[in-house]
Formats: sequence, structure tokens, C-alpha cells
Amino acid sequence: MESPFKADVLKGKVALITGGGSGIGFEISTQFGRHGAAVAIMGRRRQVVDAAVAALRSEGIRAIGVEGDVRKQEDAARVVEETFKHFGKLDILVNGAAGNFLVSPEDLSPNGFRTVMDIDSVGTFTMCHEALKYLKKGGPGKGPSAGGVILNISATLHYTASWYQIHVSAAKAAVDSITRSLALEWGTDYSIRVNGIAPGPIGDTPGMRKLAPVEMQNHYSELGPLYKVGKRWDIAMAALYLASDAGKYVNGTTMVVDGGLWLSRPRRIAKEEVRKLSRVVEKKSRNSALVSPTSKL
Ligand code: COA
Repeated sequence: MESPFKADVLKGKVALITGGGSGIGFEISTQFGRHGAAVAIMGRRRQVVDAAVAALRSEGIRAIGVEGDVRKQEDAARVVEETFKHFGKLDILVNGAAGNFLVSPEDLSPNGFRTVMDIDSVGTFTMCHEALKYLKKGGPGKGPSAGGVILNISATLHYTASWYQIHVSAAKAAVDSITRSLALEWGTDYSIRVNGIAPGPIGDTPGMRKLAPVEMQNHYSELGPLYKVGKRWDIAMAALYLASDAGKYVNGTTMVVDGGLWLSRPRRIAKEEVRKLSRVVEKKSRNSALVSPTSKL
């Protein structure tokens, strides 16, 4: 699908995208590149990163790939440094690297819980921490007043509670909290905007393959009519909005991009029944209130 944004909305910007070699991260890398940005991809697997960079370059996008694990502070520092060395600045950091698997709490070891916290929450903070020096206003390659942008990829799991996702729910709740705290503190002190995106189920992603494997997909119809699978494009367009000047007054929010799915509730009473009976019930209630004032209590 064509982008509704002008092709130069990120012209001259440099973006570093963790987990940028596949899924949502790769689509964000691609769309950022198509809209004028130079892109650095960080990922753990050399082959994946190389293939992604080759695909971006084949479109004429300036791109580099740097191997690294967001769980290691030295990797985070090295990747940020290499991005700066190559492109001369850093404007946008997208924290897309994440870990996930379905498991019930009693089957999840504390180390399994910690692993996802380490990737999603601590990894997000570590990347922000290491990138600050370049993202802040007046930092290397930055003007005296313009700071950069951070985008944290989150989820909606923790808005209520989600089956088999205790580790990811906790990790993404922490990510949202990091988003708000940094928006407040780094927005004030360094003119950095910090926002998040909470995607719904997005097709053709590693997350979807793990959380809705083909073996289990028929169960998803139980979620009702709001259950629609989004496209990676949908998330990349939200990222473009938040990273570009279109979102220049947006700071500290996590934008839900899920077609309304997280609001899904089963419809317990049929609409026809409500149409037919709501006024009858109302009338009855008013009449009984006239008879007995205490019935209001
Ligand atoms: N069920 C229960 N526990 C699991 C599990 C599963 N499906 N998969 C991993 N674990 C546990 C392991 O048993 C281990 O705990 P233990 O030491 O107590 O046994 C712990 O999690 C770490 O696993 P390990 O395989 O050593 O970690 P890793 O660093 O190699 O991989 C993961 C990290 C597990 C998060 C892996 O799924 C990953 O690399 N994910 C990245 C890609 C991804 O998930 N993308 C989707 C994003 S939405």
C-alpha cells in the first residue's frame, strides 16, 4: 500500500532500529528509509541483519547492519557508536527488539521471566541510556535546540491481563512506564520526544508466528468480530507519524494500533433485546422510584 506521507518527511534523519532485521522492525526500517532516513539495523543474527540491509540498499536506502544484543550494555554502546561514526549523527531510536513465547506462569522459570524482562524492559532502557548522548539537543551532530526521538514498541497485553503472557505483560508495562518517565525527564531536559506504539496482532511477523501459530489459530475466532490481523505497514505508518514533525507535539504517549481489539468484550445482551426492553426497564424503574423513594438507594 502507498504511504500517505510525503517521501521526504524524514529527509536527513538517521534512525537506529533494534530488532530491525525482521517483522515490524524491518517494515519500520524500510518505511523510514523510503521517507528519507538513513537506517542502522541492530540484531542478534548476522544473517538476518545482512539480508535486511541488502534489501534496503537494493531500494537505494542508506543502511548499515550492526550485530548486537540489547541485553549487553557493551553491545548497545558499540552499536550506537558505530551508527554515529557511519552517519555522523543519530536522530531516532526505535526499540523494537523483543522476546516472547506462550507459557503458563507455573511452567515459566524465573529465568524465563527474567530473560524477557532483560530483552524488552532493561534492553529498552539500556539502548535509551547509551543513545542519550547523541539524541539530546546540542549533542554530537545535533543543533542547540533540536533533540531526537525515541519510539518504544510495546503491547496491549497488560492493559487488562493476558493468558500465557505474564512475562511479556510485565515487561511491556515497564516499557510503557519507561516511555512516560523519559518523556517527562528527557523531554524537559534534552528536548527528546519519547513515545510508544502498542501493536495488535500483526501478520507476517515472528511475534505472530509464536503467539498465534498455525497450529492454534482456530481459537482466535473466539475473540469476536474485532479480531483483525493488522499489517506491518500499519505499525510503520504510526511510527512515521510519531517520528516525523507530524507528531512534534506528541510526547509520552503509547499509541495503540490494533483496530480496537484490546477493547473487545463479548456481547452479553443482543442489540435487539436492548432496543426492545431498555425503555421498558427505564419506565419500570421510574415508576418504582415514585412508589418508594428509598429504592433509589
Ligand atoms: N516456554 C517456557 N520457557 C521457555 C520457553 C518456552 N517456550 N522458551 C524459553 N524459555 C525459557 C528457557 O527455558 C530459559 O529458562 P531456564 O534457564 O530456566 O530453563 C529461559 O527462557 C531463557 O531461554 P534461552 O533459550 O536460554 O534464551 P535465549 O536468550 O536464547 O532466547 C527467547 C530468548 C527465549 C526470548 C527467545 O524466544 C528469543 O530469542 N526471542 C526473540 C525473538 C522473538 O521472540 N520475537 C517475538 C517478539 S514479539
